[in-house]
Amino acid sequence: MRLPAFIDDLSIEPRVYHEQLREWCRSMRASHPVVFDDESKSWLVFRYEDVVRVQSDYATFSSERSLNRDRRPGPRRDQPSIIELDPPRHRQMRSLLTASFSARTIAEMAPQIEHIVDELLDEVLARKRVDWMDSFANPLPVMVISDMLGMPREKWRQFKAWNDALTSDDEEAEQANKLFTEYFERSIEERRREPRQDILSLLINSEVDGEHLSHDELIGFCFTLFIAGNITTTNILGNAFLCFDAHPETFQRLRGQPELVPSAVEEILRYMPPFRAGPNDLVLGRVAKRDVEIGGEQIQAGEYVQINRLSANFDEQIFPNPEHFDIERNPNRHQSFGHGIHFCIGAPLARLETKIALTKLAQRIKAIHIAEDELPEQVRNSLLFGMKRLFVELS
Ligand code: HEM
Repeated sequence: MRLPAFIDDLSIEPRVYHEQLREWCRSMRASHPVVFDDESKSWLVFRYEDVVRVQSDYATFSSERSLNRDRRPGPRRDQPSIIELDPPRHRQMRSLLTASFSARTIAEMAPQIEHIVDELLDEVLARKRVDWMDSFANPLPVMVISDMLGMPREKWRQFKAWNDALTSDDEEAEQANKLFTEYFERSIEERRREPRQDILSLLINSEVDGEHLSHDELIGFCFTLFIAGNITTTNILGNAFLCFDAHPETFQRLRGQPELVPSAVEEILRYMPPFRAGPNDLVLGRVAKRDVEIGGEQIQAGEYVQINRLSANFDEQIFPNPEHFDIERNPNRHQSFGHGIHFCIGAPLARLETKIALTKLAQRIKAIHIAEDELPEQVRNSLLFGMKRLFVELS
């Protein structure tokens, strides 16, 4: 099978693109729920139950993709990150982070996040018409993850620029990788001399089987947390506006019933997850460790399997009336944070940031409109679905 041409055309208006993506996923679930893509030479999995199975059965579907195939975009590292590990190493590395990302620790960050949100919104509201990405959705998650890692939040533009370059073409990515690595190395040295109350100090002092993390493992953690901690959340903060613009009545309901914000956040995650759809997902897929049958197709050991989370989120076997954007949907077991042992460790943080942002928006803004004379632009990233520019008018 070959993918439809529109998939790689990131210049398509994002709302039109997303509609085409949903329609394509719907037809694939019906006709080819598991199919081999000749171009990426990997299997694509579209149905909810199969997506869950691939993530649950980690003994068969390994996350050690960087070790099995040299396909990971961006600069290569000698040590795989937590997201590319299988047990038992995965369990050991993840356990180093569980306290810092527990629901309780994250809930304690609410006042600090509220403060950042208020400051950013003050500036946004002073202007009425803004690029929502540049003035809010980009800075908020970068500032929050910088605070957690003990990096100066006022340097957010620099960090964001490095971050974006890392996922772009090779030359820029290499340069950003070098600068970011040097920055993290300096930060690690400073904390070795003088530990602080931040995740970096905690990781430096952590031990696995009686040994400290290696230099590469520490740097890898910094990269993973920094990147995972901002781009996805930025995209969901932008995608939320696309959802509200298409369904203005939902924003009005949130203004009157702020208690609906948490379930609205889940519905935004289901409807417009920050992942494109799987066909280009060479970062978060799995590698079959043995011959296995799924969805009636025979997958050989060593073959690559891509999980289509957007498609799973619209599977009509699981979600009644999936095209309906329903901020009270319950249950809403979307796949946007993954499933199983790699379930997103930052989910409580992403949820909290989005919840605080939407609650404050609903308190302070009467209506949101996407500017008609300056159409939204997608990020030029084959993995992520999000906005590069999103001009909005707020009243
Ligand atoms: C809306 C925002 C977010 C979305 C949609 C998201 C999505 C995901 C998904 C789907 C996975 C599973 C990947 C896999 O199965 O291979 C994952 C893992 C992960 N996420 Fe997130 N994420 C978000 C925010 C965050 C934040 C804020 C952080 C941290 C600061 C974070 C850190 C991580 C880490 C460290 C992992 C790897 C966990 C493991 O391998 O055990 N994420 N995320």
